[in-house]
Amino acid sequence: MTEMMSMEVQAERPLGRALDRVDGIAKVSGRAMYAADYRPASDLAEGFIVEAPAAPGRIRRLDVSRAEDAEGVIAVLTSANVPEQRTYGAPEDAGRFTQSHAVLQGDRVRHVGQPVALIVARTLEQARHAASLVEVEIEVDAEGGIFDALAHEDLAFAPDSLDGADDADTQKGDLARELAGSDHRVGATYHTAMQHAAAMEPHVSVAEWDGDQLTVHMGIQIVASAVKAFATTLQIEPEQIRIVSPFTGGGFGSKLGIHSEAVLAALAARVCDRPVRVVQTRRSVFVNAPHRERHRQELELGATADGTLTAIRHDNLAGMARDYAFAEAPASPTRASYAAPAIHTSHRVVAADIPTVDSMRAPGEAIGTLTLETAIDEMAQACGMDPLEFRLRNMPDVDPVSGAPFGDHRLESCLREGAQRFGWDGCVAPGSRREGRLLIGRGLAAAIRPNMLVGAEAEITLSPDGRFHVRTDMTDIGTGSYTILTQIAADTLGVEPGQVVTELGDSAFPKSSGSGGSFGAASTGSAVQDAASNLLSALRDRCAALGLDGNGALAFTLDSVRLGERSLALADLVGPEGMTASGSIDPDDFDTGQAGYSYGAQFAEVAVDAVTGEIRVRRLLGVFDAGRILNPKTARSQLLGGMIFGIGAALMEEGVIDPRSGAVMARDLADYHIPVNRDVPALEVHMLGASSPFANPLGAKGIGELGICGAGPAIANAVHEATGVRPRAFPIHLDHLL
Ligand code: MOS
Repeated sequence: MTEMMSMEVQAERPLGRALDRVDGIAKVSGRAMYAADYRPASDLAEGFIVEAPAAPGRIRRLDVSRAEDAEGVIAVLTSANVPEQRTYGAPEDAGRFTQSHAVLQGDRVRHVGQPVALIVARTLEQARHAASLVEVEIEVDAEGGIFDALAHEDLAFAPDSLDGADDADTQKGDLARELAGSDHRVGATYHTAMQHAAAMEPHVSVAEWDGDQLTVHMGIQIVASAVKAFATTLQIEPEQIRIVSPFTGGGFGSKLGIHSEAVLAALAARVCDRPVRVVQTRRSVFVNAPHRERHRQELELGATADGTLTAIRHDNLAGMARDYAFAEAPASPTRASYAAPAIHTSHRVVAADIPTVDSMRAPGEAIGTLTLETAIDEMAQACGMDPLEFRLRNMPDVDPVSGAPFGDHRLESCLREGAQRFGWDGCVAPGSRREGRLLIGRGLAAAIRPNMLVGAEAEITLSPDGRFHVRTDMTDIGTGSYTILTQIAADTLGVEPGQVVTELGDSAFPKSSGSGGSFGAASTGSAVQDAASNLLSALRDRCAALGLDGNGALAFTLDSVRLGERSLALADLVGPEGMTASGSIDPDDFDTGQAGYSYGAQFAEVAVDAVTGEIRVRRLLGVFDAGRILNPKTARSQLLGGMIFGIGAALMEEGVIDPRSGAVMARDLADYHIPVNRDVPALEVHMLGASSPFANPLGAKGIGELGICGAGPAIANAVHEATGVRPRAFPIHLDHLL
């Protein structure tokens, strides 16, 4: 029986198969080399960051003499001896991931926790101890700093661009007229929390110089832009930099760009003339890696008596780290989810004296669906309609704000299938499902996330050993890139995945999309598919030249290639060097003017303790449309992780900045709560699986950030049904319900 099953599995095409991770054994056996595991040939020194205790202001006194004298200390890097860099934040053409990330420049301190010195010592313990001996005094600006952006609306401005390059504001239709003419209106102000990515692997870089050549082993999501960022910051040529990142232990956006530990490691390695490793501590990650800002979101909706939406207004306000242009777009889902004659959205930011604000998983939609889908539920209730029916009634025919046709639109299918699988039986009056002191509630929400395609390149070599070596600088941040790229190559080449060896995360390889924006699999995967098909053509030509001509597929074994009954020795076909072909994807080739989104529908059941207000998620079920599913196993894992993020957003995750001092108060995973196993019920994930050929050659759409969207508001809507309280602030605190 087992044998038959495995034969059936073998008969399946490699792409679409629930293949185990090809890097799984390396990971569980400890052979997978993460950046901090790397050991340079010569003596590795350890760097430890000394943080600014106050800000914004200037360093009045920085006494490192005791640190310099401490045992094991090799050097102390401060603004006094740091090598020259381009001015921090001076934007380069390609934007925030490539601009200067200079450190220790002058005596200015922008935010609490910013590095003011780096101790370099023989061991980490020595460096850490010496750091405690540094004396630093900050003269805080007389006018103080802005730490609570939401309290400074008078300083708000429209950002030049939003994450994803959308306009800050959009105005479709006559909002005032539509609202005035509507039968039902709901409106509320919501607050969503500051969040930290807090990936399992803290930010880490090991830098070493060989003459003018810099090599950095680091955890990073996009290798090519990191090369540019080092080049910009250090004012050297990209050709002088090599980045190696075969494994990255999570990123969630916080490793899209480089951060202070990376630049500090490179500078210290220069100054000390030896390799230097800087690992951010967990506490450091909370201030020296980017976070998601707290948002104030205002939503106002109008609808006719029969439950047709007439107007949606969604206005946003958040902080932006001064000198680092980034604005999240929570109104992004509002522009794309439901039809309405009038939809107005806006985003405003306030420059604040806070640590870097940047993308965090599903930037925009994660916190935008949290509020929009809560407001939609409230409107359904105002119209006396089932929230499922209300959503179905307001499905758009075209992209609501842009007016572009949809590449495909399967939100309705997700909602209908989800309702059926969950057993959605309409909503009931709040508090009417009761089990003793537990109030039971059910809720649903839609998920939406723009589908993106970015340029990527890859190459594949057929070696005389019979293996196909895929090379691209793509990263695997825990998402399964190794596995799906192996499957894509194998599928196109007509071989089993075991015959493909995928090598990633090295800037010496062709430039990929990197991992971000849920675009990695489709973008780099399309380049790998192209490389595989180019290699196949080249091999076919070579076969023909060697007399192996005819119809049918080439069949590759480890030492020969066969066509029908005849064969050739592989060594004769590819020679000692092997044969290589390149491939690429250019997004312009797929710009059809269609709007592309991944979709989902999430259904939750919660139990709320009527006495304590404790909320437990009992069920969470999602049905998702991410186009063609490349690997159901890795895809499911992505969706599960996203849904757990959604539980965190609804119920737990909350970063806190002291509004008086600017200090980040929650700086570890004890104070910053994320869901643990006890908080997560058995999640149910279903995927429609239909291909989306408009999106890219693979027909796959983005999946990584889809699962988080809609999960939080499904829980919030369930909490409302349980308690009658409509959550307005996230995470939902117990006292909101009492
Ligand atoms: Mo994602 S926030 O683009 O890594």
